Amino acid sequence: MRILVTGGAGYIGSHTSVELLNENYDVVVLDNLSNSCEEALNRVKNITGKSLEFYKADILNKQDIHDIFSRHKIDAVIHFAGLKAVGESVGIPLKYFHNNITGTLNLLEVMDDFNVKNIVFSSSATVYGDPASLPIKEDFPLSATNPYGRTKLMIEEILQDLYVSDNRWNIALLRYFNPVGAHESGQIGEDPEGIPNNLVPYISKVAVGLLDKVNVFGNDYDTSDGTGVRDYIHVKDLAIGHIKTLPKLFTKPGVVIYNLGTGQGYSVLEMIKGFEKTSGKEISYKIADRRPGDIAACFADPLKAKKELNWQAVKTLDDMCKDTWRWQKNNPDGYQK
Ligand code: NAD
Ligand code: WQD
Repeated sequence: MRILVTGGAGYIGSHTSVELLNENYDVVVLDNLSNSCEEALNRVKNITGKSLEFYKADILNKQDIHDIFSRHKIDAVIHFAGLKAVGESVGIPLKYFHNNITGTLNLLEVMDDFNVKNIVFSSSATVYGDPASLPIKEDFPLSATNPYGRTKLMIEEILQDLYVSDNRWNIALLRYFNPVGAHESGQIGEDPEGIPNNLVPYISKVAVGLLDKVNVFGNDYDTSDGTGVRDYIHVKDLAIGHIKTLPKLFTKPGVVIYNLGTGQGYSVLEMIKGFEKTSGKEISYKIADRRPGDIAACFADPLKAKKELNWQAVKTLDDMCKDTWRWQKNNPDGYQK
């Protein structure tokens, strides 16, 4: 079985490529390296002792995609490629709509041309907006609160329409909660450009001394300690969720939707404490204003994936902190792209 991994040099894509190779899938990666570098793929090869095909290519260029499908018989696509910074998407929405939506349309058109109708799509818990209750189940109402989230919601809808038009398509919409952590080898991990937007990369940069203190965005939420609560999921668990989805896709299920989360929420302060414990470093923080657009709490009901995919997250908060810290310590400048 040969899997095309778009965005495979990125954070989740590189970890998923490791697990695909470990499971003896053939892997073809398409990535324009706009938010990643080829070194991540060298390390994927190093970790697995296996090779993969890499194309520096852009999903905005249909010919690029066409050439890859001409060269390789693809059985399914795992589609990670996209821009993902929420704040940036508010300032440059057209870039986000163009890259994420036009890029996905190009990919789907080429897949259709080559009669490859199996796709796993990286969606996000952001499609639930501010949920009316917790934990979040897959049939909760959907909404978008920013252009990035809207691209996820629109692509989910595009894929559902595509299935209605042609029920030979098999489509898995995987809604990730908050991916964190790194491969236990310490060789691959999250490598954000500049100052991180997300909590865990920010904490790890404070721990290693590259940033001064964590700004805790609000301590007056209706949560146990007043700080925001999220469902942090180890990236390896998330990657394995994709591996468990592929056999399901090959049973020709039509459209299937799964939450990939742990079902457990942790607050910002719990994450800081957890990281202090595993790193042995003091993490300074200060309480700052709420970040516009943030919600108080968000965590998954992951039972559907457990029942239908036989998948559940097994890594603990300690694993998430330990693996992030190992990656950060070994690679203070990331991949040095
Ligand atoms: P990432 O930025 O590390 O990976 C995305 C990859 O896509 C990058 O390597 C980038 O170079 C590539 N890419 C972007 N535009 C492209 C284009 N036009 N053509 C070819 N390649 C392109 O992000 P990630 O965290 O690994 O996220 C992967 C996917 O999961 C994204 O679709 C993201 O929206 C989604 N997601 C991420 C999170 C998260 O918090 N990390 C949560 C939910 C969903
Ligand atoms: C987590 C918590 C912050 C940074 C984002 C996207 C979402 C999805 C995952 C892609 C919140 C608090 C954060 C900091 C803080 N991505 N925080 N200080 O916002 O839950 O989700 O990534 O689909 O769409 O919105 O993740 O890591 O930014 O924040 O106090 O410096 O940490 O307020 O409570 P978020 P995050």
